[in-house]
Amino acid sequence: MRHYTSIKDLGDIQAAVKEALEIKKNRFAYQDLGRNKTALLIFFNNSLRTRLSTQKAAMNLGMNVIVLDVNQGAWKLETERGVIMDGDKSEHLLEAIPVMASYCDVIGVRSFARFENKEDDYNEKIINQFIQYSGKPVFSMEAATGHPLQSFADLITIEEYKKTARPKVVLTWAPHPKALPQAVPNSFAEMVNCTDYEFVITHPKGYELDERFVGNARVEYDQKKAFEGADFIYAKNWSAFRDPHYGQILSKDPSWTVDAEHMAWTNNAYFMHCLPVRRNMIVSDDVIESPQSLVIPEAANREISAQCVLKRLLESLQNEPARTE
Ligand code: CP
Repeated sequence: MRHYTSIKDLGDIQAAVKEALEIKKNRFAYQDLGRNKTALLIFFNNSLRTRLSTQKAAMNLGMNVIVLDVNQGAWKLETERGVIMDGDKSEHLLEAIPVMASYCDVIGVRSFARFENKEDDYNEKIINQFIQYSGKPVFSMEAATGHPLQSFADLITIEEYKKTARPKVVLTWAPHPKALPQAVPNSFAEMVNCTDYEFVITHPKGYELDERFVGNARVEYDQKKAFEGADFIYAKNWSAFRDPHYGQILSKDPSWTVDAEHMAWTNNAYFMHCLPVRRNMIVSDDVIESPQSLVIPEAANREISAQCVLKRLLESLQNEPARTE
């Protein structure tokens, strides 16, 4: 695996889950793999879990880690080619990428959707430039349209907790005060479509996701019907995907907040969310604090998904022909 921008890059995902669970049992088994290798983690946006879990995963593999917060202390970066750089941006991404790449072996990038241009977001303009110009393995730490380290951790968590071979998994929209990207629901849907789980997506009308990610899911606009018989509830807010409302908030309907009454419609479902979560907007205090809430083990599995991905990227470096320059 040369790059990781989608859970599909893992190939056989059941084999990947098995590998991840073996890593979880013995996190320090591959310390030699990362010796004298450096992971550079580049953040264009804030993070708690991704930052810490990916650093920990890299350290478990014996790697050195450099973390760069682009917006704190680095030169402000221009990302558009052809711009006359007479404003506040001092450096162009096209120089910055190869410079940063010269200091590391593997690059992680967090760069959210900007909602300025849907085509740029959905063409993954930023992370694809890292892939094109760095010459190094690149992995997504949440890009404009996907968060595949999160969805891999979600899959590991569901596999650990499921009580039936083919659980019913429901992705539900929930209200939020700010316009959020579709990256997490896109990747969650993409991941579930790689399994044989029963899969339902529920949201108010207008919040339809890109059909390429929805795949074989059943879309149900009645949240109560969607929740009936569910084994896992995965809550997330996202903004509108479809034109002309791309990136906009269309509803803050509090009746979509996941509370105890909603969970009573399910088959005693587990509650999941990628975090950070707005309590009593997305989910009520009592649900997130209940024994059915998996938000903490789910976040803990971010270390495992990152370690499995980094391990495979390091293995791809081992298979590369030696460079002559
Ligand atoms: N779930 C997740 O990616 O969390 P952070 O934004 O804190 O990294």
